[in-house]
Amino acid sequence: MNTDLELRVFSAPAELFPAAAAEFARLAHTAIRTSGRFTVALSGGSTPKNLFKLLAGLPAQDISWKQVYFFFGDERHVPPDDPESNFRMANETLLSKIPARPENVFRIHAEQDAETAAKDYEEQLVKFFNLQSGQFPRFDLIMLGLGPDGHTASLFPGSKGLSEMHRLVIANWVEKFNAFRITFTYPVLDHAACVMFMATGADKADAVRRVIEDKKQGPPAGRVSPIEGRLLWFLDRDAAAELPVGSR
Ligand code: 6PG
Repeated sequence: MNTDLELRVFSAPAELFPAAAAEFARLAHTAIRTSGRFTVALSGGSTPKNLFKLLAGLPAQDISWKQVYFFFGDERHVPPDDPESNFRMANETLLSKIPARPENVFRIHAEQDAETAAKDYEEQLVKFFNLQSGQFPRFDLIMLGLGPDGHTASLFPGSKGLSEMHRLVIANWVEKFNAFRITFTYPVLDHAACVMFMATGADKADAVRRVIEDKKQGPPAGRVSPIEGRLLWFLDRDAAAELPVGSR
């Protein structure tokens, strides 16, 4: 059993998302108090939408949005106005609703060819975090989801990206989509101060069990292991249904 994680199981999504919003706000406060800024990488897919809407609805004084720097853990290889775009989803549910500084929103320019988009985003990370060669950025928070196949960000089972240990961002070919995805690599995920997974629904239960049961041999999401950071798993009861009784 993967023990170095903080597992929180909620009876329903309606309980999980407010708790995730509270955790987000707590982490933002601490980071802004200690370093004057909060750096967060948003996850894509459908699960974070409800959290983003909740965050957008928070009283303005709850989070100093002008000191929050937004990045994306992965992106589909589509332009920012495409219905599949993670940037578009985050912009419609959160970024366009809060007083964030536009220059503090770092989207993946996935309208370019995938390798160029990946290299461009790496350069943005190197510049923003002032990285020397071989260094990795330390995000205050990286948000991640989980696919039924156990993928996270766009690190899919069987994909080349699983073995990338030097790059920060790569164009990862995903056979089942016959398409590239642009994604953070494991070293970036593992250098975060906090990684927060959110997964809801029965279709995730098998992947959750495999991830938590076997960190090493399990699916890609199980290999995320912050070196000096927290690993949070926020699950609803359905997603946690196959976990040993004691752990949920
Ligand atoms: C993406 C995501 C991906 C997502 C999972 C879960 O671009 O799709 O970053 O990793 O988090 O696929 O997706 P759902 O939340 O839609 O189930």
